[in-house]
Amino acid sequence: MTGLSSSYGLDRMRLLVTGGAGYIGSVCAARLVEAGHEVVVLDDLSTGHRDAVPDGCRFIQRSVEDAATVLAEGFDGVLHFAARSLVGESVTHPQRYWLGNVVASLRLLEAMREHGTPRLVFSSTAATYGEPESVPIIEEAATRPTNPYGATKLAIDHAISSYALAHGIAAVSLRYFNVAGAYGQYGERHLVETHLIPLILQVALGHRDEIMVFGDDWPTADGTCIRDYIHVLDLADAHERALAHAVPGQHRIYNLGNGTGFSVLQVLDTCRQVTGHPIPARATARRPGDPAVLIASSDRARSELGWKQERCDLAMIIADAWQFARRYPR
Ligand code: UFG
Repeated sequence: MTGLSSSYGLDRMRLLVTGGAGYIGSVCAARLVEAGHEVVVLDDLSTGHRDAVPDGCRFIQRSVEDAATVLAEGFDGVLHFAARSLVGESVTHPQRYWLGNVVASLRLLEAMREHGTPRLVFSSTAATYGEPESVPIIEEAATRPTNPYGATKLAIDHAISSYALAHGIAAVSLRYFNVAGAYGQYGERHLVETHLIPLILQVALGHRDEIMVFGDDWPTADGTCIRDYIHVLDLADAHERALAHAVPGQHRIYNLGNGTGFSVLQVLDTCRQVTGHPIPARATARRPGDPAVLIASSDRARSELGWKQERCDLAMIIADAWQFARRYPR
């Protein structure tokens, strides 16, 4: 670490951000640059976009499997976002997840061990828990993933625990719930879009005729699934705090969500209010693998990281996503 005090009492760090051309990775990389850190983005652009790499980052177009060559230059930490993250695809093409997520992450851990990289912040997921026995979900909840996506992220979490303990790495896994919103020019633009809010906004933009509501017979008040939507900027803030609070030899795990659930119909209504568009919707069959309700307890992140959400309001989250969607309509 070198001089120059940054946010959260962190000195300026040299950080490797894998997946920094993707949605969450690009927002976090942008915020780290703004906080005064030196950021190198490693991304193979398989799902990311070259123009999403924030100004001020050095960009290396390579796979995470090649991280050793990059880490040999000497880094203070790694933020590991690069991953495949489509639940449905993980069921039909599990090899893409076991190779692309698990094997690549093991190579990254090996590279960190080899070159003595001291810190890791990993993008884990609520999908590691599977169908919850109770909500809000705490970090001690049973981890019984219901799809290969969640299983591969959980496998990586286990590997990180043993590497942290054996090799003194200061590691933090952040288990995201439903990330939404945007930060200026950085937002969600997947080639294959499956997420609720960007799909609804595509209807408002006239790129889709209607939104399918996957099931209206769930055991919830209005019959549609409930999810916990967190603004991507609040998530980015948690990453900076995780870097600051990581402890050598320990692997800490934090859930990140709003702690409030919104049903699919509530999201739809809020999108209608924000966009002023009627957004036609039609109920259809349940999507396989969907749990009825996912709500996070983020108490541990609040008490240990000092994290607090600044952007809890669903309309505010959707307004930011809408501003981005209109700016980058395709
Ligand atoms: N939904 C619809 N219609 C659509 C798309 C989604 O009704 O066209 C519903 C889904 O059935 C679900 C809700 O909207 O009930 C949210 O679905 P998303 O696909 O937006 O998000 P998921 O909850 O399935 O998954 C997200 C991430 C996962 C992560 C999970 C944890 O994509 O990586 O949140 O909460 F694991």
